[in-house]
Amino acid sequence: MLHGKRILLIVSGGIAAYKSLELVRRLRERGASVRCVLTRGGAQFVTPLSLSALSEDKVYTDLFSLTDEAEMGHIQLSRDADLLLVVPASADILAKMAHGQADDLATTALLATDKDVMVAPAMNVRMWTHAATQANLATLRERGVHFVGPTEGDMACGEFGPGRMAEPNDIADAVSDFFEDSAPLSGRRALVTSGPTHEAIDPVRYIANRSSGKQGHAIAAALARRGAHTTLVAGPTNQPDPAGVNMIRVESAREMLAACEKALPADVAVCAAAVADWRVTTEATEKMKKSGTGVPTLEMTENPDILATLSAAANTRPALVIGFAAETENVVEYAQAKRSKKGCDWILANDVSPGTDTFGGTDNTIHLVSADGIEDWPRMSKTDVAERLADRITEQLGAGE
Ligand code: CTP
Repeated sequence: MLHGKRILLIVSGGIAAYKSLELVRRLRERGASVRCVLTRGGAQFVTPLSLSALSEDKVYTDLFSLTDEAEMGHIQLSRDADLLLVVPASADILAKMAHGQADDLATTALLATDKDVMVAPAMNVRMWTHAATQANLATLRERGVHFVGPTEGDMACGEFGPGRMAEPNDIADAVSDFFEDSAPLSGRRALVTSGPTHEAIDPVRYIANRSSGKQGHAIAAALARRGAHTTLVAGPTNQPDPAGVNMIRVESAREMLAACEKALPADVAVCAAAVADWRVTTEATEKMKKSGTGVPTLEMTENPDILATLSAAANTRPALVIGFAAETENVVEYAQAKRSKKGCDWILANDVSPGTDTFGGTDNTIHLVSADGIEDWPRMSKTDVAERLADRITEQLGAGE
């Protein structure tokens, strides 16, 4: 369930800190990797050595440690994780979080992170019900911090009431639920094509186009983030590999088609690659030389259409096949025609005429053409287009169940 998930566990001060040791085991049993930050208060109750032995990783304690910072800066530490988990979360650390204080490694990581944070509060009942704590909790809830517990029960201090930390198993369940909710496409398979293709003329020359691969790579990343098992078949690009995708690099249109067919079955296919329409009929095996008798004539053959092939696949057609239409005029009309010609479900039409800076640029203006009509999206970054498309795909696949 938590396979491949990276959790940064922050252990703050409190008698319940001893339960963090069992939590490390429960999370690792479910497949997560756990890296620990121990506050000064936490170290009064558990030792760095026991956390390190159970997590099989280094334990971070000091904001100003030269060796720690050289290995892994505190910003990086907080961003490398998929979830920050504060167990136990004392009244003090919750107050610091609510007020944005950052006076040690734990609170600095919590302030610097761009990831979700989950806390398991543990404190005396009076501290829990105190107006100051309740105000801090309200602030944190409003900011989207996730809570697990506390429960009601006998406390180490001899009192009874709310403030008792949730049990390690329940915290591990809450972590599993969190990832399940944030991965609505888990169990789904996605196939994305991206980038240009290169069609060889001879061993040193090829036909290519200006596609950067930005849009296709961003779509693959967005689908993978939603939990889909994502295969990205990419032509030659300078884009970094998106996290968590199964990357297949190809050069030519025919290689791209073969890789796509191999990646089936899939629930959704998004063809964002700018596939070369033609290739040279016979690739020269040796470098072509200037002969002095004039320029060569290249005879061209049409490449297979990957989008049309996937849309027509007899037994393996993905439930949702999506293509792009790069047009310079009559954008929506041409896209509608392309949708029926290629047999796909949706076409994302974009204007690539000179001056729009869409090809190779960072922004895109999309018109989503489907059987239901046309949706005009405002101009937005290619990353935002990817997020919006991934949300629409999630809705569509969910609706089909
Ligand atoms: N496409 C494909 N295989 C091809 C050509 C295009 O999979 N051999 C896909 C692209 O990935 C895109 C869609 O088809 O999703 C439309 O691409 P586009 O270049 O706009 O259309 P073409 O089919 O090339 O038509 P034309 O050049 O005539 O506009």
